[in-house]
Amino acid sequence: MFTGKVAFVTGGSRGIGLATARALLERGARVAITATSDSTLEAGTAALRDVAGAAAVLPLRADVRHPDEVEQAVETTVAHFGGLDALVNNAGVGAFSRVAEMTVEQWQRVVDTNLSGVFYTSHAALPHLRARGGGWIINVSSLAGANPFPGGAAYCASKAALNAFSEALMQEVRQDGIRVSYVMPGSVRTDFMGAAGQHDEWKLDPQDVAQVVVDLMAHPQRSLPSRVEIRPSQPPRKH
Ligand SMILES: NC(=O)c1ccc[n+]([C@@H]2O[C@H](COP(=O)([O-])OP(=O)(O)OC[C@H]3O[C@@H](n4cnc5c(N)ncnc54)[C@H](OP(=O)(O)O)[C@@H]3O)[C@@H](O)[C@H]2O)c1
Repeated sequence: MFTGKVAFVTGGSRGIGLATARALLERGARVAITATSDSTLEAGTAALRDVAGAAAVLPLRADVRHPDEVEQAVETTVAHFGGLDALVNNAGVGAFSRVAEMTVEQWQRVVDTNLSGVFYTSHAALPHLRARGGGWIINVSSLAGANPFPGGAAYCASKAALNAFSEALMQEVRQDGIRVSYVMPGSVRTDFMGAAGQHDEWKLDPQDVAQVVVDLMAHPQRSLPSRVEIRPSQPPRKH
């Protein structure tokens, strides 16, 4: 389905990003993944190379909070694979504490990763998507961006801002054939909130979100689903 296409997945070493990279590889794309730690990058790369062979996977250590690292990673991807067709802005972190107790470092880590990182990566990728005559930018947001809760001020604000960023960018570039969408998952079974455990069976599987990403990319050109919400179908009953 995506044979000949090149994708760049931030935070592709585990969780939703890893599942998305795998789904893209299974459909014929070549994929660059980024992460900040060598250990997650090595493990993720090994898993992906089992799926698609070594040549289809390019691991790059790049922190989305640093524009120079992001630009370098995008340029390396384009030089390595010959172009860029899709950017999946997936890297994201949470810090959950009330505003009175939150440190400046926690605030900056969340906002710099979840919001500024998406700007840096999109800014670096756009000229290359344009050079191909179009492509996709898919941002992994969260239902938390629409449903704020106590203790989630930084995370919820970062995702609400990401939603606004995505909608503005979508309108800026859709005439150029660049399709911007954002996905808002509910709870997903990853290590995002600490190690996933046996009480998490009700949560979405990372593959469920990956499926949305590839469905968005396979969608007919004449229409643009720009925002997708996805939630567990049977969460624990509250009432
Ligand atoms: N899990 C959920 O319930 C849930 C629900 C809704 C939305 N989301 C969103 O889905 C996205 C992925 O979450 P996940 O659950 O898959 O998280 P995860 O399992 O913690 O994986 C996060 C990925 O991002 C990478 N990463 C973290 N900080 C980075 C940075 N500064 N630069 C580059 N890469 C970085 C991590 O690798 P390193 O640690 O090696 O850097 C890892 O590959 C996030 O945007 C999150 O907000 C998650």
